[in-house]
Parts: sequence; structure tokens; C-alpha cells
Amino acid sequence: MNEAKMNTAEAMPDPSRRKFLNTAALAGLAGAGLSVGLSACNNESGSKPAAPAAPAAAPAVAHREPHLKPGELDTYYGLWSGGHTGDFRVLGLPSGRELHRVPCFNADPLIGWGITNESKAVMGTKADGSLKYTVADTHHTHASYKDGNYDGRYAWINDKINSRIARIRLDYFICDKITELPNVQGFHGIFPDKRDPVDPAINYTTRVFCGAEFHTPLPNDGRDLDSLDKYRTLFSCVDAESMEVRWQVLIDGNCDLVATSFDGKLAATNQYNTEGGARYEDMMSAERDACLFFNIARIEQAVKDGKFKTIGSSKVPVVDGTKAANTDPKTALTAYVTVPKNPHGVNASPDGKYFICAGKLSPTGTVIELAKVLDWFDGKLDELDKAIAAEVEIGLGPLHTAFDGRGNAYTTLFLDSQIVKWNVEAAIKFHAGDKNAQYVVDRLDVHYQPGHINASQSETMFADGQWLAVGCKFSKDRFLPVGPLHAETEQLVDISGEKMVLVADHPVRPEPHDFIIFKRELLQPKQVYDLNEFPLAVKDPKEAGVFRDGNKVTVKITSMAPAFEPREFRLKVGDEVTLIMTNLDKIEDLTHGFAIPKYNINFICNPQETKSVTFKADKPGIFWCYCTHFCHALHLEMRSRMIVEA
Ligand code: CUA
Repeated sequence: MNEAKMNTAEAMPDPSRRKFLNTAALAGLAGAGLSVGLSACNNESGSKPAAPAAPAAAPAVAHREPHLKPGELDTYYGLWSGGHTGDFRVLGLPSGRELHRVPCFNADPLIGWGITNESKAVMGTKADGSLKYTVADTHHTHASYKDGNYDGRYAWINDKINSRIARIRLDYFICDKITELPNVQGFHGIFPDKRDPVDPAINYTTRVFCGAEFHTPLPNDGRDLDSLDKYRTLFSCVDAESMEVRWQVLIDGNCDLVATSFDGKLAATNQYNTEGGARYEDMMSAERDACLFFNIARIEQAVKDGKFKTIGSSKVPVVDGTKAANTDPKTALTAYVTVPKNPHGVNASPDGKYFICAGKLSPTGTVIELAKVLDWFDGKLDELDKAIAAEVEIGLGPLHTAFDGRGNAYTTLFLDSQIVKWNVEAAIKFHAGDKNAQYVVDRLDVHYQPGHINASQSETMFADGQWLAVGCKFSKDRFLPVGPLHAETEQLVDISGEKMVLVADHPVRPEPHDFIIFKRELLQPKQVYDLNEFPLAVKDPKEAGVFRDGNKVTVKITSMAPAFEPREFRLKVGDEVTLIMTNLDKIEDLTHGFAIPKYNINFICNPQETKSVTFKADKPGIFWCYCTHFCHALHLEMRSRMIVEA
């Protein structure tokens, strides 16, 4: 390794706890016959039995206090993925307090997501009206850009299980559209573009790129089941406004994470399985995999020129991005830059110059210079891999990288349970032959096995180098035990100084993956809905009542603290009922709920919001519909009597 100090055992509270997972992971790697120089870094001492939790040492370096006094507001928003709970979470930082959850792919009985007609229309239903899917696995969340910074319009989040992308409106913090990507499985990486590659007037996000990890026969309809050489995957572009899939690119290898350039010209995905293996041993056979670049303007021109095919029943144009079809740089749509051994993570530096891929099974970070990739596409660079500006050893199991806007990168080291802070320009000098260039600036132990990492404003041109959060996959001894399922730790690090300082542990419900952190001024959420957004709105209590057309019945209800209108309504067994409720309260935070006992219905209406539910009146009797959301001193009295006649 480079001069950088690798032995950090003396700084660890309990090396044996790290040791366990490292040993297991290393055994797996050794079995696969890998030569990744692990021995130089695997120098943690001891294999003593697990000791009781040792208290973390108090930070020795001066740092800022992340804790807020009662009533104080956070200075940053954090948008977090909810993993296989399928939701999207909003945190305040630096406090780490969870402020909100936005259900996207999975039902949520609090707000009625998956229960109301409006949410079911977003989520997608089967012919019988039930939800098409009830599981999801969110990994990555990113927000829309304008002029290189977040513009507060949208965020997007992926569902890996069913290959869906959800959009979250950041004015109301609600999911408003979900799109299922055709002909792909394992949709993992996601990133919005930051401007148009051609039209300078479009200085904001209009596309979201989606990488699919798992390769399948195309179309995947029962053909070619055992012909692995025919399995392929696709890289997709989704329109940020319409949420329709604009185009897809057929590629060799797979897609993992996604990054986009600030000039809009390039998107890229790191590839860990260029072998196209179906078993993990086969996925790790190549010494180098790739960071695959997409030339956005050329792809869109190819689509315009009709140079595409379609797959199966999908109408989405698919262009050919395979290696064989893209050997001439001057017409190539794609460019495969090689990166060592099953890389994970590709991140754009805030100066707009580089994408950094972490080696995962190689202890290296690879810095790719975007100007050189564009040179290759222009026929001005003879070998594509000359775009690699640096490839330096940084530690074991490097995964994801964040930036401070001062030229430093922060990469998670999964196996070392550390964050390494390294200087990108110094790494480039070292790579060029200056062996005195000290690129590793600092290392910090985290607890334990960190995956995603991000710093305040890191994914914008305005990275401010204040706070860094790291998502640790194993909390082990950091919190009170609650049975076999431990919380994860999202640890907060002060990066405002030369040394990183760990300042807080936050337990989070498993299992978040990626997240972004940005200044609170960039969001202006609304407190009260606009009644006119809802075509079904019941705008006045006088419009409320029961409207019958045979056995099709519409019940229109208004809520205004502390009463519903009507206070009672009459149905007949067998009625097909659509119940529409508008909350006419205009006061901030005055939300009402509406539950129907034994009919399995509950939802809330925020101020000036309208929702509807459809159900069959199949049980005779009296059903006290009541307000489930505390609203008023007479909250308990806020009811409407549903009478169902036999
Ligand atoms: Cu209305 Cu509680």
C-alpha cells in the first residue's frame, strides 16, 4: 500500500467485532481465488471472543455540536431511502431526527396509501382493483437539479424488486407517479441529469437514468432460459415530467450505480459483472470490470433517426450499446472504461471534472476524467483507458464516495469499517509517478461495515464540506439490544476541519441505503393543499350527502373540526360505494382521519385535501366512522354514523 497508515487497530473500541465480518468476507474472497492484496491491509489484531460493548472514546478533536436545543430547527434536509420497507424518509440534520416518511411502493395505513383510489392509481392495480405489487426494495434517492444545485421540485427513488421508479413531489412530500421499467430486473442505480446535453436553455433536470443489474433473456417470456450468452440488461432513460420511459440502451455486462455529469453530456454506470456470470464465482473472474459511459446526445439522435428496435410488447425504443456495435469512437453511443474488480459506486465530483469508482474487491479508487472521455468520443484520445486520471489504493472494500468541495473525497471502506478521506489531485499526482504525493488525508473508524456515504450538498456544485453521514450496515453493540434484528447506525461526522470527527450515532429502522443532504433553504414545502388540485373536491358542506344511481352510490363528505358533514348516511347491503372526503379546514397541521370499522378503511386528509375510497357495502349494521387523527378538543366526538340496511 501507499505510505498511508493502514494499521488502525489501536484506535478501535473492539476489534473483535470488526474481525468477525472481515474474516467471513475474506474467507469468501480467498475461496474465489482472488488476488486483491488483502494481506497488506488485514492487520487488525487478535481474535479474542466478543467483549461487552466498550464506550466510544470522546472525540479528541474540537468539533461542532450536532444536538439541537428544544425548538431549534435543523439546517439541512436529508432524504433517505427506506430499503425494503419501500418508503422514502425525511430526516433533519445535523440532529438526525426522522421527520417524515413518504410511502411510495408499499401501502401505509396512516395516510391511506394503497387504500385510497388516488394512491392505488399511482401504485398500479390488477384487474380486480387490488394492488399489483405489495413489496418493494428502495435503494437510491436523488433530487432534481437546476444550475448544478437542487431546485426543490422532485425526488426519485427506485424499487429494485419490481423495477419501478417513483417520483416524490417535494412541495407536498407525496409520491405522485410510479413507472415500471419494461424488460429489466434488478433496477438499482438511479440518477437525474443536471442539464440538457444540447440545449443550453434547459439548465435543469429533464431525464432520470436507471441502471438494471440482473441480466435476463430479452424478452423474458420463457425463451432462452439456459442460453446465458443471450442474457442482457438495459440502461433506461425516464422523462422527469411525464415519467414515461423515453429510451433504453442494450449493453454488455450489467448496471450497478449511476452518475451524471454537470454538463449533461454523460451518464455512467459501474459494472461489476462484465462477465455476465450467473453464479458469484463467475461474476468475480475478471480482474477488471468497467465504468460504462453513455453519450446522451448521440443516443437521442439515434432514437430520432430510427436506429432502434423494440423488445417484446414494449414500445420503448432500444438502441444498441453493446461493445461490438460501438467500436468506432466517432459514432459510438457507449464507452467502456475499465475499472478493477467488481467496482461499486460511481460518484461525480462537485467540480464537474471526475467520476470516481470504488474497487469493492480491489482496494482502489479509480478517478476518471470526463473531458478525456469526451475526447475519446471525438476521436481525440487513442485509448479510452487513458481517461483514467488516477487509480490508487485507499483501503479494503471501498464502496461509495462523497465530497467536501475542497478537493477531498470520502470513501466508505466496508471491510475496514472506516471512512478514508483522500485528496483527488494528490491521488492524480501519485498516479502520475510522484510517489511523495500524500493523497490519504485521514481515516476514521465507523461502526460497522459502512455502505453509503454522503456529505452536505456533496452531489451538487455547491458541496459545502460541513457534515457527512455514513450508513453503517451493522450496529452490533451501538444500541440497546432489541432482539435479533438490530437497528442500523447512521453515523454523523463533522468534516469541517482537517480531521474527521464522529459526533453522533443515530439508530434507523432497517434498512436505508442511499441518501442526500442539502441546505434547508432549497425546499419550500407547502402547508395547505390547493383545493383546485382535486377534481373530486367537495368544496362546501352543502355539497355533502348521499347520491344514488341504482346500487352505485357516491357519498360526499366534508370535514371541518370538530365535525363531519353529513353526521350520518344510509346505505343498502350490496351497494357499490365511492366515498369522497374533502378536509375543508385551512389551518396548518389540522389533519383529519376517516376510519370505517370492519370495512378495513382508514386514511387521512390534510388541510384542503380530497381523497376517495371505493368499497362494497357487504355488512349490514351501524358503523361509526370516526376521525383517527387528533384534531381538536372534540376529536373523540368527531364521527359520522354509517347505516347499512339489510
Ligand atoms: Cu378530526 Cu380528529
